[in-house]
Amino acid sequence: MNEAPIRVVPRATAADGQGAGRRLKLKVLRHNPHQPGSVPHWQTYEIEEAEGMTLFIALTEIREKLDASLQFDFVCRAGICGSCAMVIDGKPALACRTLTKNLGAEATLAPLPFFELIGDLSVNTGKWMRGMSERLEGWLHMVDPRPDLTRMEQRMEPELADQIYELDRCIECGCCVAACGTARMREDFVGAVGLNRVARFRLDPRDKRTDADYYEIVGDDDGVFGCMTLLACHDVCPKELPLATQIAYLRRKMMRQGL
Ligand code: SF4
Ligand code: F3S
Ligand code: FES
Repeated sequence: MNEAPIRVVPRATAADGQGAGRRLKLKVLRHNPHQPGSVPHWQTYEIEEAEGMTLFIALTEIREKLDASLQFDFVCRAGICGSCAMVIDGKPALACRTLTKNLGAEATLAPLPFFELIGDLSVNTGKWMRGMSERLEGWLHMVDPRPDLTRMEQRMEPELADQIYELDRCIECGCCVAACGTARMREDFVGAVGLNRVARFRLDPRDKRTDADYYEIVGDDDGVFGCMTLLACHDVCPKELPLATQIAYLRRKMMRQGL
């Protein structure tokens, strides 16, 4: 169901030369599964675009001035927490890092598919990420279970520390899972985010797990062999993690384990 656009009164910032002055239409897929009778429908909001406006600013303006019932998530506004991921013009991305000037005059916003819908643009990625993490035991399994905390931690080569840090930059936004065709077909697929997590711990010399252990965890169709190299994960990751390389490398290692 399409509804007539809700408009906001032009702001002084736009008229005094600070704003871009374009009329921006945001067509939002709305649905509240917790409200009896709610059905998914498109709602169009029209606002005046301002200089440097992000989708975070645009949605906040809509919620403050047009529609207090609109649901969406933001915490850091700086591409760090991963909570603002949504489908923007058909592609998963972070709303707080999306400048409206890079969108057309009318943009569509929808919640990430695959994850539990809380309402409108808000989804429960945290629940899925926790389940994935528990399944992969995505934490350090220390070689020494009771390290002497009064001593300096063992030295690590800077190159290795850099490699681990690179993979640790994942913010668990869920974009890679939302974009992945395999995740749509296989409910228990751990996704690129899960495989990246395994690749990260595999590198870590403080973790005692071997490739045989990792094979037990991801050596199946819900793990690394379920990945069909669709590469959408790699294309949409807002942190530009080397997901394709990591998954291919992990697959080769796990294949050897299975022989
Ligand atoms: Fe987001 Fe990239 Fe992490 Fe996937 S791998 S959850 S897209 S940061
Ligand atoms: Fe999915 Fe990425 Fe593999 S999109 S199929 S996890 S390469
Ligand atoms: Fe934290 Fe966008 S609000 S990543």
